[in-house]
Amino acid sequence: MKPRVLKVFAQLDPAPDVILLANAVEPHLDQTFFYLFDVPAGLFEGSVAIAHPDGELDILTGALESETAFQAAKGDPHVKVQVVSREETEAAVKKMLSGSATIGLNYRELTHEWFVRWSKLFPDAKWTDTSNAIRTARVTKDPHEIELLRKAGDIGSKVGRDIPGLLKAGMTELELASQMEYRMGQLGASGRSFQTIVGFGAHGAEPHYSPGRTQLKPGVSMVCDFGCYFARYASDITRSFHFGPRDDEMKKVHEKVFEAQQAALSTVRAGVPAKEVHLAAQRVIDDSPWKGRLTHGVGHSIGLVVHDGWGYGPNAEDSLLEGMAITVEPGIYLPGHGGVRIEDDIVVTKGGYEFLTTAPREYIEVAA
Ligand code: GLY
Repeated sequence: MKPRVLKVFAQLDPAPDVILLANAVEPHLDQTFFYLFDVPAGLFEGSVAIAHPDGELDILTGALESETAFQAAKGDPHVKVQVVSREETEAAVKKMLSGSATIGLNYRELTHEWFVRWSKLFPDAKWTDTSNAIRTARVTKDPHEIELLRKAGDIGSKVGRDIPGLLKAGMTELELASQMEYRMGQLGASGRSFQTIVGFGAHGAEPHYSPGRTQLKPGVSMVCDFGCYFARYASDITRSFHFGPRDDEMKKVHEKVFEAQQAALSTVRAGVPAKEVHLAAQRVIDDSPWKGRLTHGVGHSIGLVVHDGWGYGPNAEDSLLEGMAITVEPGIYLPGHGGVRIEDDIVVTKGGYEFLTTAPREYIEVAA
């Protein structure tokens, strides 16, 4: 049986007769399809997965990725791959689900168009929402997932170490972002896991800034927030640097963010309420001259997507679980001046955590 299929069904009581997952077109692909199938490459638009309570998995896919699909299923007697055309998919699903009264769907990811098609195909079906069960199963990682997250994190960390050597006066934010992405590809990444953030000077004060044509000038700090995919698993790392003549305030801000991240990390272990991790960082910042300048939750889970279904701030209700992969990313943002964020990916263990990202976090001044 596929352990991940069983892990999802273990969260469901009563369990549906089957779980039916359907991909639309990019970007409307249900990552749970890839979670259950464990296929490291391919687009799989229009493909369907049918998961059974005994751990069996049926995959219906087209000719475009059939080799990849057969390769992924090879040697696994619990996965059956059928290659069907888009026109044949509905009839094939109808036949396979003829004895299923209760059908679980991933309400968070299924497109409305697919739902309308399923409703017409199964007018008497009882639909159940399995999205919380899926999220719970996906949020703790198995050893293979952690290995892939570590590879994605290693690539991010190498690029983090390279950034100081890439900085040149006059380069634009977009140029730096594209050089970072090129480097991730050279190191084996299959792509970036979200739009790379490079914010020079005051732009660093906007946490989700999109890089533009602003040129790098001596005397400014910068926020570089980036990540990549490795075999579908994402990394997410932020490093902040200073370029050229020192700005005393930004140096102190960096040191305070570093201290806040250390405080947050020191609370991490299985069983701790996630809000405690946030509050540890927030207390350090709020006891400083930059009170109130941490403007977002301190982290989120990471996996097949960069924001893998779960985030934590001061009001988070969830607790940390062994095997969760999360980010820890405090920041201080000074509108009109600049920002500093330090972000790492970690895996929660019984007694603490392990880093997935490792580039230096301390204040770095790069000569202009
Ligand atoms: N690194 C982007 C974010 O966590 O929102």
